[in-house]
Amino acid sequence: MKKFARTTVTAALPYANGPLHIGHIAGAYLPADTYVRYMRLKGEDVIFVCGSDEHGVAITLGAKKEGVSPKIFVDKYHNLMKQAFQDFGISFDIYSRTSNPVHYETAQEFFRTIYDQGIFLEEVSDQYYDEQEKLFLADRYIIGTCPNCGHTGAYGDQCEKCGTSLSPKQLINPRSTVSGQTPVLKLTKHWYFPLDKYEGWLREWVIEGHQDDWKVNVYGQCKSWIEQGLQPRSITRDLEWGVPVPLSDAQGKVLYVWFDAPIGYISATKELLPEGWEKYWKAPDTRLIHFIGKDNIVFHCIIFPAILKAAGDYILPDNVPANEFLNLEGDKISTSRNHAVWLHEYLHDFPGRRDELRYMLTSISPETKDADFTWKDYQQKVNSELVAILGNFVNRVMVLSWKYFEGKVPAAASLDETSEKRKSIHAAHGKASEEINTSIREMIDALETFRFREAQFQFMNLSRVGNKFLADTEPWKQAKEDPEAVAFILNFALQVVMTIGEAGKPFLPDACQAIQKQLNAASLEQASVGFWKDKSVLNLLPAGHALGQPELLYRNVEDELISKQMEKLKKPEQTSPAVVEESQATLKPLKPTVTIDDFAKLDIRIGKVLHAERMEKSNKLLKLTVDTGIDQRIILSGIAQHYTPEEMIGREVTLIANLAPRKMMGIESQGMILTAEEPDGKLKLLQTASDAKAGSTIS
Ligand code: 2FM
Ligand code: ZN
Repeated sequence: MKKFARTTVTAALPYANGPLHIGHIAGAYLPADTYVRYMRLKGEDVIFVCGSDEHGVAITLGAKKEGVSPKIFVDKYHNLMKQAFQDFGISFDIYSRTSNPVHYETAQEFFRTIYDQGIFLEEVSDQYYDEQEKLFLADRYIIGTCPNCGHTGAYGDQCEKCGTSLSPKQLINPRSTVSGQTPVLKLTKHWYFPLDKYEGWLREWVIEGHQDDWKVNVYGQCKSWIEQGLQPRSITRDLEWGVPVPLSDAQGKVLYVWFDAPIGYISATKELLPEGWEKYWKAPDTRLIHFIGKDNIVFHCIIFPAILKAAGDYILPDNVPANEFLNLEGDKISTSRNHAVWLHEYLHDFPGRRDELRYMLTSISPETKDADFTWKDYQQKVNSELVAILGNFVNRVMVLSWKYFEGKVPAAASLDETSEKRKSIHAAHGKASEEINTSIREMIDALETFRFREAQFQFMNLSRVGNKFLADTEPWKQAKEDPEAVAFILNFALQVVMTIGEAGKPFLPDACQAIQKQLNAASLEQASVGFWKDKSVLNLLPAGHALGQPELLYRNVEDELISKQMEKLKKPEQTSPAVVEESQATLKPLKPTVTIDDFAKLDIRIGKVLHAERMEKSNKLLKLTVDTGIDQRIILSGIAQHYTPEEMIGREVTLIANLAPRKMMGIESQGMILTAEEPDGKLKLLQTASDAKAGSTIS
């Protein structure tokens, strides 16, 4: 096997057009994070890059739907995703975004480098155009009847019913999915990447070169794609939002999102290491690994590698461990139907319990086929595995060590085999050590080959074996007649706990931190690094070492918590009782007249919401941090039943800036956000002039 000096790990750049859900996490980010944590523990030189994918038609249309500019739209979701990743503990070295100037430069440079070699094809052709939306309709934005099977909802690139690949002009009775209108054909010029010219090389590199080391699902998809024959791919679009095509005759054209997004990995690395980025992308002894979901396979295994090759001296992915999809309660995760578990909502509803979601998602990881997340399964996995196996073992060992040895690690005197009981303790110890060492080796082998489900199972085996060892040796029964035997048993059990605290770091970082705290083992941390090379049970806790206090690592998930989540899924568009009550209200009467001088006293200006959160114990108030142009201040606003914190972040608001501060629920509100109250009680934020800067005044 080739020896690499460093590793570049990327995780798919998520579109900044909605919050993250568990499908995203299980697909790419959690496996990538687990792998990177493992690499770091081994002492490897590794970087972990990601960021928001902020271009494409989906973004333009999403912004339109929310009535804001694309920039405001992507700002909002970029901030939301970045925060959620951070709160969940995904340990990126950088989380960047493709609207950054460094990305524009990098993507344009890529285009120019390939263009200057005369590789691109230029072609003027007629394409479907939605006159109402003033939008050329690519691929998924056009539907019609399939010429092959008659399905009326076939897309411009494929009929999902019969699987036939289509081009928009083959559709019978084409319609725009944006406006529903019949599109017209209009001439437009675009640049194409001649993927067909790379077919021979791709056959060699993918079909012959990666048969053994790429996952079956990944390899299979690539092989069938290549064997169907490759076509030139258009890499530019007629859109206002995106990276402009860097040519003088390309006004109004931007790079196609799938051309610029993967280059985003490189620009993110440049941002992380302005001086040292190149070796992570160009040195032949760097290993490049892309973690993605299955819908991204051809882009990462065929198109992007061909572009990297055309651009010159870049390395190619060594592996692309793509996952299949995650379903939820037997049904596809769907943003439009709100059939999802949103990461930020999970973190809100399950404070301090993020390891549980990591555990659950890894244990059902869709590595070889689609998997199903159910809340009942979540509860069962936490209660009967994390609590009953891992938590229980660690707690028993800690409690027994305090009970019999006052919280000090007992010396493991060599036990002579003078009694039957001692013989059986030796046998149990030998068996447990062997099983633990086997599991450690299998865990590491699975981590090396991206089989995280298996790796975590083997990790849990350490606690299973530990529990069995305690049950077999019964230290509580020897306490009186053979304290030396108890010392022997607990010394080993404590070393196993220490081993678990190290081995679990890629999977359950919070629990491992808690274990190290209970063992008071921070000072031994350095020594534990050898574990990842030695692959055997640690023996690092010295006799007499003072332990910390036992604490429960996990607590049971109660039925109530689970039923609340199930309810949430059943009622996607929940109307809060308060809103229903208020809907009986009628129009308010006109207030008494004021003079222009009265009005002029008010300082009304535009602010930008930097941060938003719910107020504890209040279902009405949101706590907003607002940039008013002159300062940043806290404003409490009674809009919690009408807007979520996530909807507020990045949003422009109109506020009264000189209202006397007022304390509510212990917090001082320094201003008031203006809203329109509809007759039925619904509050709507006042729309601002979309490009007014924070601090602009209103008169
Ligand atoms: O499917 C997606 O969510 C894309 N935004 C993934 C892009 S990955 C990379 F190429 F940037
Ligand atoms: Zn069809």
